[in-house]
Amino acid sequence: MSEPKSTHITWHGGHVTQNEREQIFGQKGCVLWFTGLSGSGKSTIARRVEQLLLERGRYAYVLDGDNLRFGLNKDLGFSPEDRTENIRRVGCVAQLFSDAGSIVLTAFISPYRKDRDAARALVPEGRFLEVHVATELATCEARDPKGLYKKARSGVIPNFTGISAPYEAPEAAELVLKTEGKTVDQTAQEVVDHLLASGYLAN
Ligand code: ADX
Repeated sequence: MSEPKSTHITWHGGHVTQNEREQIFGQKGCVLWFTGLSGSGKSTIARRVEQLLLERGRYAYVLDGDNLRFGLNKDLGFSPEDRTENIRRVGCVAQLFSDAGSIVLTAFISPYRKDRDAARALVPEGRFLEVHVATELATCEARDPKGLYKKARSGVIPNFTGISAPYEAPEAAELVLKTEGKTVDQTAQEVVDHLLASGYLAN
């Protein structure tokens, strides 16, 4: 849905400029959009990055796929339409957090390129960093932390990403994380280093 259903609504702006907000927080509000297969490490890495940022006195928050499906997105399943709606809602929430000055880290499979592009389009240029957690399917399946690949292979879980549902890998992600042979700390530090080098964080 592109146009709001409501009519007679008016947009109200605030009194604090983006620049003032950034001076106060010592960071640029932005969206770190983690995408990758189930079991690729999205949530684990995002949570470690969140912790590292908070330890530096920065303001960050993780929106996690499984968790949001307990609340905001509890009415959604895994059909293509439901996944698109899942990502649309998360994109809107991420937009609000980043506008509020936070570094928001989203950890969703987000398998469709067009849905990720739509989330990107919601925030100003340079405020959306796609982080492809590019763990190989074979590795995710070998890890199988929740036993879901096994269930997907035996047909207990239908439409499982990578097995019986598609995953469209990013073509131009701002950051590509290879997790094989690396620790969570090493990978999370790569993300923080990128934010520092690209001017998202005050030192
Ligand atoms: S998304 O495709 O809509 O972006 P999301 O990140 O919210 O997915 O949720 C993915 C998580 O739901 C997986 O990590 C896994 O724990 C669980 N899950 C349950 N069923 C499926 C399925 N059919 N495909 C993918 N993930 C599933």
